[in-house]
Amino acid sequence: MTRPPVTTAAGARAASGPVTTVIENVHVATMQPGAPYGAVRDAAIALAGELVAWVGPRAECPAAPAARRVDARGRWATPGLVDCHTHLVYAGNRAAEFEMRLAGATYEEIARAGGGIVSTVQATRAATEEALLAQALRRVDALRREGVTTLEVKSGYGLEAAAEAKMLRVARAIGRERPLTVRTTFLGAHALPPEYAGRADDYVEAIVESMLPQVAAEGLADAVDAFCERIAFTADQTRRVFEAAKRHGLPVKLHADQLSDGNGALLAARHGALSADHLEYTNAAGVAAMAQAGTVAVLLPGAFYFLREKELPPVETLRRHGVPMAIATDCNPGSSPIASLLLMLSMACTLFRLTPEEALAGVTRNAALALGLGDRGTIAPGLVADLAFWDIGAPAELAYQVCLNACVGVWRSGQPVFGAP
Ligand code: NIG
Ligand code: FE
Repeated sequence: MTRPPVTTAAGARAASGPVTTVIENVHVATMQPGAPYGAVRDAAIALAGELVAWVGPRAECPAAPAARRVDARGRWATPGLVDCHTHLVYAGNRAAEFEMRLAGATYEEIARAGGGIVSTVQATRAATEEALLAQALRRVDALRREGVTTLEVKSGYGLEAAAEAKMLRVARAIGRERPLTVRTTFLGAHALPPEYAGRADDYVEAIVESMLPQVAAEGLADAVDAFCERIAFTADQTRRVFEAAKRHGLPVKLHADQLSDGNGALLAARHGALSADHLEYTNAAGVAAMAQAGTVAVLLPGAFYFLREKELPPVETLRRHGVPMAIATDCNPGSSPIASLLLMLSMACTLFRLTPEEALAGVTRNAALALGLGDRGTIAPGLVADLAFWDIGAPAELAYQVCLNACVGVWRSGQPVFGAP
């Protein structure tokens, strides 16, 4: 039995008011750094409204006679899971491209021939907001059933002002339709839209001068992302997007070094990015720069698996430099048509050789960091009481078993949203 360290988490708020609920007969993977999984067996979690007020061994739980008591029947609790990199608002699908790739074509070849991201752009531009929302909610609900309480959603299949805004409005609507927190990311620099063929700099100009300012003025995005790659945007074009984001007070992230080493991680770190994502081809200098800048490494094993990539992200170098590693689904129609964060835990371990504990930290503590959310990601006093409850005997089972969703209940902001602990 291990006590959680008595540190105060960075985004903790002082719990105002008395303890309203005590969850007892529970084992807790607090995911606070220190002991493995920050685990406390035979624990209790005291909530004050929407915040955690106390967590620790049940025998030491402060008396709260007026509080509602909830018997978790020996289940495990973890922080609500955070999927910090998705493109789950889109129309259509790319099953035909999957068949082409299996017959030998590469992701890059398909993109260069006018397929790939641009084919999803056509379908997404043509779709109504209602249709986009309905399709997105199916993916969101699959994630929610696995304990996801915070979700990032990118634009990037509109590639023109109106369609990008439409995607971001749909992403915001997800957070109203379902009990989870949605963070939106403007990804106008995802691919070159067909109407700008051969004029990438002009498109970047449009992003910087009109699309991004509009999105920022309407409060539609919480961050800005770009795809820095030989089939997408150059380092210089990415830099211009980042500088514009900064002018509008928006943090940045980057699709970096996914298919080739373009010094993307270095570029992201130099701009103080919240995260650099993918990183299969990232070099050691990029990792060192990320460590210095505090940029989180978001690893996306679903895309690695689905594109049948061979180059592994530099996990050992990231570890050595102490770069926090997050894991996400990258849920999208082209490179990761996958709406399971639990499957990503398994793949992060089997494909990328993370430990089950690192993988779980990757979808809790470090995923929250990748979104700049200091108020969640661990179970600690003063943090939001987003909790997932699991029918497991030990936390490693979450990464170990596949297609056996052990999630039995989810609480968000101190309230049950489905199931029971
Ligand atoms: O994260 N790399 C760029 N963007 C997505 C793929 C999007 C698509 O193929 O539709 C990714 O892998
Ligand atoms: Fe992505």
